[in-house]
Amino acid sequence: MDKLVINGGNPLSGSVTISGAKNAVLPLMAASLLADGKTKLNGVPNLRDTNTMIRLLGMVGAETEFREQCLTIDASKVNSFEAPYELVKTMRASFYVMGPLLGRFGEARVSLPGGCAWGPRPVDYHLKGFEKLGAEIVLEDGYIIARAKKLKGARIHFEIPSVGATANIVMAAVLAEGTTRITNAAMEPHIVQVCEVLNEMGAQIEGVGTNILKIQGVGSLKPVEVTTIPDMIEAGTFLMAGATLGNITLNNVKAAHLSIVMQKLEQAGCRIHVDGDSISIEKGDQLEAVDMTTDVYPGFPTDLQAQWIALMSLANGSSIIMDTIYHDRFSHVPELIRLGANISLENNVAVVRGVKKLRGAQVMSTDIRASASLVIAGLMAEGRTDISRIYHIDRGYEGIEKKFQSLGADIYRESE
Ligand code: UD1
Repeated sequence: MDKLVINGGNPLSGSVTISGAKNAVLPLMAASLLADGKTKLNGVPNLRDTNTMIRLLGMVGAETEFREQCLTIDASKVNSFEAPYELVKTMRASFYVMGPLLGRFGEARVSLPGGCAWGPRPVDYHLKGFEKLGAEIVLEDGYIIARAKKLKGARIHFEIPSVGATANIVMAAVLAEGTTRITNAAMEPHIVQVCEVLNEMGAQIEGVGTNILKIQGVGSLKPVEVTTIPDMIEAGTFLMAGATLGNITLNNVKAAHLSIVMQKLEQAGCRIHVDGDSISIEKGDQLEAVDMTTDVYPGFPTDLQAQWIALMSLANGSSIIMDTIYHDRFSHVPELIRLGANISLENNVAVVRGVKKLRGAQVMSTDIRASASLVIAGLMAEGRTDISRIYHIDRGYEGIEKKFQSLGADIYRESE
């Protein structure tokens, strides 16, 4: 198993290119199953999760070729409708194949995802949505089996605007008979891209970018070529590293997706400059404590909560950080405390009292974003930090150590 070794304290400078968004490319890969032919996705990051999805697409009979950020998926010979436990347990987003398989072939058998590092994470909205569209759903041997001769449009309301359920139900509804109306739909940039790409494929989705989607079912979809949007979470992670350590520029970013994150960083004293597809960040004289509450888009993303806590651990003063999306998503807190942070946790609220310095230590990754917060903390800490179990970070960050090396950090990968 690999680990990351960081000798902290180096200033960061220069520029780094942000990869395509993991959370956009995974549903886009699943959406390719809706078209009888070759879909071409550009800007695909080479991640554990994208490779898991490639394996899954292969298992259902799609042919794939992945070379230099370009992935072609030929879904003309799909002949199996099953997502096995071995893959779903390593990546919940495997559940995304359910909507397209059910929509195009009327059948899907997908292992029920278990819990994850930050709580139970149910899929009940997905299943209730498929049922509303007329699917028969049964649970057998740990697998969800969904069947429908032909899905029929329906009215679906989400209690919480779930990212996954919105994409999954939209992907099923585009080929249903009649009109589907989804209210309280997620509006994250990756959901917007999925809807836009489906429309390019021939779907009829109105209200894209709002929380009410009206989908008029069509008979079939055609394959298209698209470029994945930049990863706002990877970008946010680099911005937070730049916030205490230097003066860096991120290329291939959409500043509009990061408005709230940039606002918070400015409040904390950083200087930010946006120029087209680039964002530069320069650390201020003093990092100030700033409270933060996660929310659905355009609120502060829960996927950047851990990194914000890492940053605030060195701020001047105390900050209160609340996660309203995932109440248990704080496995990074005990690890950050090992590095010298002063954080107390009660339910879904962390109180971070800024300390003068962090000191390197051995810590452990527990999930993708928690690991990213440990990288930031390790870069800020004095001395050596060893981060073990970094397969978590490889799920969502492409060559993170190489990108930080190019900015001047002393960070490298070692086999344990
Ligand atoms: C996606 C992202 C993840 C991010 C999250 C929130 C991908 C691959 N993953 O996860 O990185 O942290 O959005 O932005 O894109 N819920 C239910 N029932 C459901 C579905 C969701 O109760 O059927 C609840 C969840 O427990 C959670 C909230 O809704 O409290 C939001 O979850 P959701 O938006 O669905 O997250 P994911 O799509 O799993």
